[in-house]
Amino acid sequence: MYRTHTCGELTIGDAGKEVILSGWLQRSRDLGGMTFIDLRDRYGITQLVFNMDTNSELCEKARKLGREYVIQAWGKVRERSNKNPRIPTGEIEIEVERLEVLNRSEVPPFTIEDNTDGGEELRMKYRYLDLRRNIVKSNLILRHKVAREVRKYLDSEGFVEIETPFLIKSTPEGARDFVVPSRMQPGTFYALPQSPQTLKQLLMVAGFDRYFQIVKCFRDEDLRADRQPEFTQIDCEMSFVERDDVLETFEGLAKYLFREIKGIKFTETFKRMPYSEAMERYGTDKPDLRFEMRITELTDLVKGRGFQAFDSAGYVGAICAKGCSDYSRKQLDELTEFVKKPQIGARGLVYVKYGSDGLKSSVDKFYSGGDLEKWVKITGAEQGDLILILAGEKNKTLYALSELRLEMANRLGLRKKDVFVPLWVVDFPLLEWDEEEGRFFAMHHPFTSPKPEDISLLETDPAKVRANAYDLVINGTEIGGGSIRIHDTSIQKLMFKVLGFSEEEAERQFGFLLGAFRYGAPPHGGIAFGFDRWVALFGGQDSIRDFIAFPKNNSGRDLMLDTPSEISEKQLKELKLKINLED
Ligand code: AMO
Repeated sequence: MYRTHTCGELTIGDAGKEVILSGWLQRSRDLGGMTFIDLRDRYGITQLVFNMDTNSELCEKARKLGREYVIQAWGKVRERSNKNPRIPTGEIEIEVERLEVLNRSEVPPFTIEDNTDGGEELRMKYRYLDLRRNIVKSNLILRHKVAREVRKYLDSEGFVEIETPFLIKSTPEGARDFVVPSRMQPGTFYALPQSPQTLKQLLMVAGFDRYFQIVKCFRDEDLRADRQPEFTQIDCEMSFVERDDVLETFEGLAKYLFREIKGIKFTETFKRMPYSEAMERYGTDKPDLRFEMRITELTDLVKGRGFQAFDSAGYVGAICAKGCSDYSRKQLDELTEFVKKPQIGARGLVYVKYGSDGLKSSVDKFYSGGDLEKWVKITGAEQGDLILILAGEKNKTLYALSELRLEMANRLGLRKKDVFVPLWVVDFPLLEWDEEEGRFFAMHHPFTSPKPEDISLLETDPAKVRANAYDLVINGTEIGGGSIRIHDTSIQKLMFKVLGFSEEEAERQFGFLLGAFRYGAPPHGGIAFGFDRWVALFGGQDSIRDFIAFPKNNSGRDLMLDTPSEISEKQLKELKLKINLED
């Protein structure tokens, strides 16, 4: 028997018991006649104590053990004289009577403690050691709990979990596919699913009515803190539903998860906001509503005073930062630097300070006190506030304002990790115009239904068509997105036409779906949540990486497996593939 107890469960009530524990040596300390070892396993840490006076041989043995040795200890639980209130086992220790080394360990490349000395790269390379650390380990246990609760809730709502294949045909979700060459049909490729979108729709045609799956998805796209090339979705689809049925069902899931995982009860229905309003007021389709700080348009108010940057701008907008009128030159310079970063893209920053001595702006040369007062009125600024103004092309300026809004909220401590404000963003545009390619793209995916009242615009004014689509946004993160689907073959064909697919092209790529729609497709719709994102949100972090057991780095590499990597000549030969990296 390796153990009678885990390293996390013994308390003062167990004093006097003879126990066996197994685990890893986290740390040892020699204090004169005594040696202490912190023994760690998944469940916690228990202190082992060895006494030179009573058992010098055993104590010597203990002193020779290195960090991360796997050991087994027999001994008696006793009350500690020097208690540690920070851990559940902190009141006791084990007076060791026998010790076995189950396995040795080389000196680990970084300390396996909450405050480790290991940098990101090193920890990724030795991820299995990083996973021994409490912080990362508890993230994965949180992930398990969320998955368990998702299954519980969806099962109780009649959803059936069905697996769909990973070796499929390309589905367009806006990113590039990862492809897998076929050996049996040389020269042909499978694509790994960017999502099971078309397959779940086929399951609706098959009559499953309510489907879900916690499923890996693969997208070859630029990586960020909240994006991985392989990530997990809670993918769901329902038949005979309209938008509000879907929103209510999954608002139910969200509320259930918040209650079970975070102990937070949402009694009100989640706010809903049209895409157009989100863009105008917050400059983004995923506004963080933990704080207000809306964007106000000033375009018409600021023209005609000879200030070139405003006169030539298609759009001028402002945010009002509460209580920041005393910002120093240095702080304002920092903000200017921030908005001028290439990722933000603004050309400059104009400010108005509403201090106790009145209004003072960086454009006093061009604008009178009366002008500034108008800006104050329209932005709702009060004494003590700072108005920050950006100008330029409308969409770019709104984007820059949305980033500035987040930056100011960070500075003001308005983005609290333990406050959650969910929002449904609805009525997205169906299509997005791509300047480079000179054609429309589906903003969500090509199976998204237009809003019924906008269908007639599809052929006449496609840019105006709104989609029957929705996103769940929490604290500025897009947690999920979905739509009511097109179930009518003729509308689906029209959609492909608007997207620039020839009939043959549409048939070649999506013949299987169009074919299925000829056999009685029910009205249907669904949603997919970014599971990693949701867990990270519950865990209070922005990056999803530490909620994934074996993640990739920002270049899409797995540093532990050292991949992507070359494959052998033999494999290439079998696949009848030749590598030609020249072009
Ligand atoms: P969408 O493309 O919006 O919709 O994806 C759904 C959710 O998945 C998460 N997500 C990601 N998470 C981590 N890394 C990524 N690279 C990544 N990409 C997306 C986001 C997003 O909201 N088939 C549709 C859903 C549907 O219509 O039902 C789809 O995949 O949280």
